[in-house]
Amino acid sequence: MRARAVAFAPGRVNLIGEHTDYNDGLALPFAVTLGVRVSGTAVGEPRIEAHALDLGEVDAFELAAEPGGADGWRAFVRGAVAELLAAGVPVGGARLEITGDVPQGSGLSSSAALEVALCLVLIALSGADPLEPLELARIGQRIEHRWVGTRSGLLDQLASLFGRADHAVLIDFRSLGVEPLPLVLGEHRLVTLDSGERHANAASGYNRRRQECAQACAALGIASLRDARLEDLAGLPDPLRRRVRHVVAENARVLATVAALRAGDLAAVGALLDASHTSLRDDYEVSTEAVERAVARLRGAGAIGARVVGGGFGGHVLGLLAPGASPPAGAIPVAPGPGAQLLDRD
Ligand code: GLA
Repeated sequence: MRARAVAFAPGRVNLIGEHTDYNDGLALPFAVTLGVRVSGTAVGEPRIEAHALDLGEVDAFELAAEPGGADGWRAFVRGAVAELLAAGVPVGGARLEITGDVPQGSGLSSSAALEVALCLVLIALSGADPLEPLELARIGQRIEHRWVGTRSGLLDQLASLFGRADHAVLIDFRSLGVEPLPLVLGEHRLVTLDSGERHANAASGYNRRRQECAQACAALGIASLRDARLEDLAGLPDPLRRRVRHVVAENARVLATVAALRAGDLAAVGALLDASHTSLRDDYEVSTEAVERAVARLRGAGAIGARVVGGGFGGHVLGLLAPGASPPAGAIPVAPGPGAQLLDRD
């Protein structure tokens, strides 16, 4: 058992490949420099005391009993402890201090950042061997499924864990292969802009979209939408046809974006971001009026591509600004930073 451990885990921006992860598809996210930092100290009693410093809130519970559910950030702490114990990590009593600068409800994965940072600290304090990143990502996903209520895929956790400065990561959710790709933007800049509408996957249509994809697979007789082909869609009822069309086309756009980045063709990247947005708005229907207004503001300010990011239904939108364009008021510059890591322990 260690006396103290500190971890940082970043949020992420998904450059492209939205709502593909739970369909065995492709995505191209990058970890951002914003994230969550958890500092943990072992305590003598079998008790967790967690302090959300930015909110001035506390959660405390005994380790002996299965912790009950809770709302907001507390669900992540209770979920992390319970899922690590279930995975065989001998979590001991600890005092945890949590701070972060990923705006919550932004679609920039403050959730995954919190899950990953909590798990890294609790594992380090327990003295257990570090978990493989994929296993850690799956624990984060179980926290989402069982404690938060979002049937999310592995995009956010893998992006947070495999982030690398100056790189995006190409993730194939079928093979779970992760390949770093230099994100060379020249004079172009990526920014996010708050739509002003808080996004919360558990309460949004996110889980319904997942169900629709499962229904489409059953109707098409395939195991996952990675196997769907556009020519098979004619017989599917609406909206399933449009949902599948989005997923199939979005996977193709991820590969096209990789090719455009390798060729340094940022105009093509911008056009692909725009096409992704149109598809997410019209076929996948995860945009909102507030999101549309934010996308329009980015385009008005000189974005050559702009789109809804993450689960959608509010949150921030992403824009690729042309050289020299001034971002609209309130826009946040986003750049690829390193992945989750233990910062210090003794
Ligand atoms: C949320 C989920 C991810 C992914 C995206 C949409 O961020 O947590 O697993 O499905 O939405 O691409």
